[in-house]
Amino acid sequence: MNACSAFLADTHCHLMLSDFDHDLPQVLARAWEAGVNRLLVPGLDLDTSRSAVELAEQHPQVFAAIGVHPHYAETWNNVIETELRMLARSPKVVAIGEIGLDYYRNLSPPEIQRAVFKAQLELAAELERPVVIHNRQSIDDVMAHLLTWSMDLPQGLIGKVGVLHANSADLETANKAIAAGFYIGVAGPVTYHNAETLRQITTRLPIERQILETDAPFLTPHPNRGQRNEPAYVRLVAEQFATLHNISLADAAAKTSQNATNLFNWNHENENNYIL
Ligand code: NI
Repeated sequence: MNACSAFLADTHCHLMLSDFDHDLPQVLARAWEAGVNRLLVPGLDLDTSRSAVELAEQHPQVFAAIGVHPHYAETWNNVIETELRMLARSPKVVAIGEIGLDYYRNLSPPEIQRAVFKAQLELAAELERPVVIHNRQSIDDVMAHLLTWSMDLPQGLIGKVGVLHANSADLETANKAIAAGFYIGVAGPVTYHNAETLRQITTRLPIERQILETDAPFLTPHPNRGQRNEPAYVRLVAEQFATLHNISLADAAAKTSQNATNLFNWNHENENNYIL
């Protein structure tokens, strides 16, 4: 992206996974080079939440989400909850996530997943942070939890309650989530050859309620599929998004970055928050 284009935000990248152990500084350098100036790194458990906050505190462009992923729901206990509350004192913690339900792999029993999901939704309301939601083959249960939860939230969260990350929900469900105050996360699969349905959904949803992400190291966009994903590739998602909405890449970048800022309220840093 050249110097007179707007910046991009990658609202979901797992930079604390070991996939990035050997070259994280270069990965970050390529992100800045590609015009990405906001990164949200979600935790998956207490350790990765803590290291996401540490990374965020080292880089003005990096922010953290903290929480326990449904795969690790069985690790949840009072100590973890207390530790997450302590971590949330950092102004770089802009969301609770990644949380949700995963009935595809069921690495934790579903009833434990639901209890831990509920506990973290309550924590998010208490801390007034939006939520980053994971759903896999669990959309009905996820939506039931979210619709109940979103009916009784503090004023600061109204209209910006969270994101359905790497959305795979159908149009009707996505619109219900938007009506409840959610944003929709658009990731690499929107670039895949067989993803016509997903492209139609993305095209029909309002631009002002969509944000872009990589889910790195997973979900690598076309034509880089087969490689490890990284934040610089959010540009490929932005290009597809621009094509679908018939707007320029600069416009797609500017609008989706603004949406992410509205949700995560992360332009309080003075560095790198200018839009050219
Ligand atoms: Ni994720």
